[in-house]
Amino acid sequence: MALLDILHFPDPRLRRKALPVEVVDDALKKTVEDMFETMYDAPGIGLAATQVNILQQVAVIDVSEDKNEPRCLINPNIIEREGEEEMREGCLSVPEIFAHVKRAQKVTVEALDLEGKPMTLEAEGLLAVCIQHEIDHLQGKLFIDYLSPLKRDRLKKKLLKAQKTAQTEPSGARAPSL
Ligand code: NI
Repeated sequence: MALLDILHFPDPRLRRKALPVEVVDDALKKTVEDMFETMYDAPGIGLAATQVNILQQVAVIDVSEDKNEPRCLINPNIIEREGEEEMREGCLSVPEIFAHVKRAQKVTVEALDLEGKPMTLEAEGLLAVCIQHEIDHLQGKLFIDYLSPLKRDRLKKKLLKAQKTAQTEPSGARAPSL
C-alpha cells in the first residue's frame, strides 16, 4: 500500500470531472486500498479519487467511530434525495476551513462494489452528507462552492493565511474532513 498525495484548493486539478470506471480489476483494487490508507492516515472520513489526482469515479468512506466500516463506491449515482439538513463540513483538500453546508438529509445511491457488482445504498445523516460531498468531488465541485461569494472570499483569505503560517484552529472548531 502507499500513501497518495492529496491535492489542495485552489489546485485546478480538483475541478476536473472523473470518468466512469469500466472494469473493476486488480489495478483499481490497489488504487482503492491506497485511497483507504491515505484517508485513514489524513485522517478523514471520506476521500474521492479526484482528490488524489486519479480521474476515476471512485470514493472511499468510513464514518464509523472505530474506523471499521470501510465503504467503497464505484461510479456512484444518487437516484433519490429526501429532506434537508445543514452540517458543518471540512475537506482534506481545503484544510483548516470548516463551514455549514445544506444537503439532502437522506439519499439513495447506486454504485458498483469492489467486485464490480451493482448495489444500492440508502444513507442518512453523516453518511449521506459524506456521499454527497464525495460525489461532488468526482464532478469537480468543492463544498465551499455552496457558500456565498463573500463568505467564500473570506474563507479563501483565511486559508491562504493558514497555509503561510501553518496555524491550526482550536480543536473545538473542527469538523470531520471529507
Ligand atoms: Ni472533500
